[in-house]
Amino acid sequence: MERRNIVLVGFMGCGKTTIGKKLAKALEYTFTDMDDEIVKKAGMPITEIFEKYGEAHFRSMETELCGELSERGGCVIATGGGVIKNEKNMELLKQNGTVLYIKASPEHIYKNIRNDRSRPLLNTGDKMERIKTLMEERRPMYESRSDITADITGMTSREATNKIISILKEESII
Ligand code: S3P
Repeated sequence: MERRNIVLVGFMGCGKTTIGKKLAKALEYTFTDMDDEIVKKAGMPITEIFEKYGEAHFRSMETELCGELSERGGCVIATGGGVIKNEKNMELLKQNGTVLYIKASPEHIYKNIRNDRSRPLLNTGDKMERIKTLMEERRPMYESRSDITADITGMTSREATNKIISILKEESII
């Protein structure tokens, strides 16, 4: 029987993609990055999708992709940080997946993305303040809409991956 997906959620810059690739390699799952898939489909970077068509259009592409991914199995899926905002997305992703929340402090996140310009929602004003505000807004959703949480604050991506593997074993997911 095909294995259920492992769906990584968490705030922008927490390491979903980096950790997801390492996790997929270690578990011999395939790896899918939702942002990359959307960029491929749209034929333009995320900043341009937001500029040209608005956030709502990006969100509908995200939901459509969640539907497609619910049909797949044996996949580590790195989601975009905003996927948890829509309950429908989570229902779809949970159809064939376990949702794991990668939790990290605003300081940890800031270190990872202080020089990044590819995230339109953080390209405004003081980046650290923006991270803190948006994280507070989303924290209840990350917590209530995930099956498992792994706090990886202060860890390298290798350490975080090992911690996640231990948790998945403890929870009999793998
Ligand atoms: C977003 C997170 C981004 C990307 C888009 C919106 C968000 O993905 O999907 O810029 O709303 O948190 P990452 O979490 O991979 O940065």
